Amino acid sequence: MASIVWFLLLLLNIAKSCQGGITSHYVRKMEASMDMPIETFPQPLGDNAPEQVHITQGDHIGRSVIISWLTPMDRFPNTVTYWPAGRQHNHKHKARAVTTYYRYYNYTSGYIHHATIKKLKYNTRYFYELGSHKATRRFSFVTPPEVGPDVPYTFGIMGDLGQTYDSNITLEHYISNRKAQTMLFVGDLSYADHYPLHDNVRWDTWGRFVEKSTAYQPWIWTAGNHEIDFLPEIDEYTPFKPYMNRYHVPYRASQSTSPLWYSIKRASAYIIVLSSYSAYGKYTPQYSWLEQEFPKVNRAETPWLIVLLHSPWYNSNNYHYMEGESMRVMFESWFIENKVDLVFSGHVHSYERTNRISNVRYNITNGQSTPIKDTSAPVYITIGDGGNIEGLANSFTEPQPSYSAFREASFGHAILEIKNRTHAHYTWHRNHDNEPIVADSLWLYNRHWYPEEEHSSASNMV
Ligand SMILES: [Fe+2]
Repeated sequence: MASIVWFLLLLLNIAKSCQGGITSHYVRKMEASMDMPIETFPQPLGDNAPEQVHITQGDHIGRSVIISWLTPMDRFPNTVTYWPAGRQHNHKHKARAVTTYYRYYNYTSGYIHHATIKKLKYNTRYFYELGSHKATRRFSFVTPPEVGPDVPYTFGIMGDLGQTYDSNITLEHYISNRKAQTMLFVGDLSYADHYPLHDNVRWDTWGRFVEKSTAYQPWIWTAGNHEIDFLPEIDEYTPFKPYMNRYHVPYRASQSTSPLWYSIKRASAYIIVLSSYSAYGKYTPQYSWLEQEFPKVNRAETPWLIVLLHSPWYNSNNYHYMEGESMRVMFESWFIENKVDLVFSGHVHSYERTNRISNVRYNITNGQSTPIKDTSAPVYITIGDGGNIEGLANSFTEPQPSYSAFREASFGHAILEIKNRTHAHYTWHRNHDNEPIVADSLWLYNRHWYPEEEHSSASNMV
């Protein structure tokens, strides 16, 4: 019986080889992408109950956490009580939040609180409580291990999530994978801008929707185009207003001047977050910051160098084709010089993984503009396949270009298991399967410590 199941699964995943890599023949059953109704996300019970709880790393090294939440009626209480697991009687601490709110056309947000709790112990579960009396809510999280070169750590990766029924399947799948400790989110959160006047109530419902994960483990945020919310027709001229009010990140800890680009260290990884929708030309703040950032990366301390940015540089889908090109032209040579291991992007609502290639030889006169194999180059992964209301990007360019190793028009999420300084195991899970089924996988070798060629023989296996 088991062998029959195997055979059927293999048939289902049969793929063709092209000039480049593999275009999966998995055919996803097409369904309308529909947002879950607002009633799916009621406010929690209790007077002025805290809601939309989310946490992220609060410093550069992982000893601090930013706890964010919203209260609908009253700005108080605006404190968080927290304690290490097993020691609640004598070790309760309190931290006060910075509290804000914003207006967007005819919408006024609730009170948005951001509390940074500091000097936490590594590798420790902490409980925390928000609210008061009957509206008190309790959550917990685990701090990362101390930064070090061989520290194992597991990240989830997701993008372009939205709040459809498919978004919910993707998120539930991710939560059911008990290994992942921190989410690397590559932008496009709520898709509130899909609604007339960018109805910011959909920012609230998204906050409630993802709370089942974001309250319990850090999500590392990247801004996408659906965070811009620039709408001059209704006098909304401040880009990223809802996003930046609701989602705080520790950008000052990496000497950044904007929450839209920053870096953190976590376990054995150094993570750089960039903004596809902020200026990055020479002399701009983002360019200058990144120029000074790369020399700070010590691969003896954090062997794995990972970049998150929203608009992919290498994407062979007809949707958003070449939108990331100008940023690639500006920054790709730095990525090669600094041997970036992995670049995760979203934006395209499909899945794609590249070979290690670069395209940095072109100098405007030599005509050398074809991507070539490059062992110093990152693997680029497009994972904007969370499952939002805009639906699937199911039109790939043909033939498959040589840089593309594997591509499939499905929704899903990925898991990156860093084992030590040399090896990491990467898997992609389409959301039409059961979560444990792996639709694409690769053993990744670290570019600094073990720059050997990977073998993607595991691609498209179940
Ligand atoms: Fe996008």
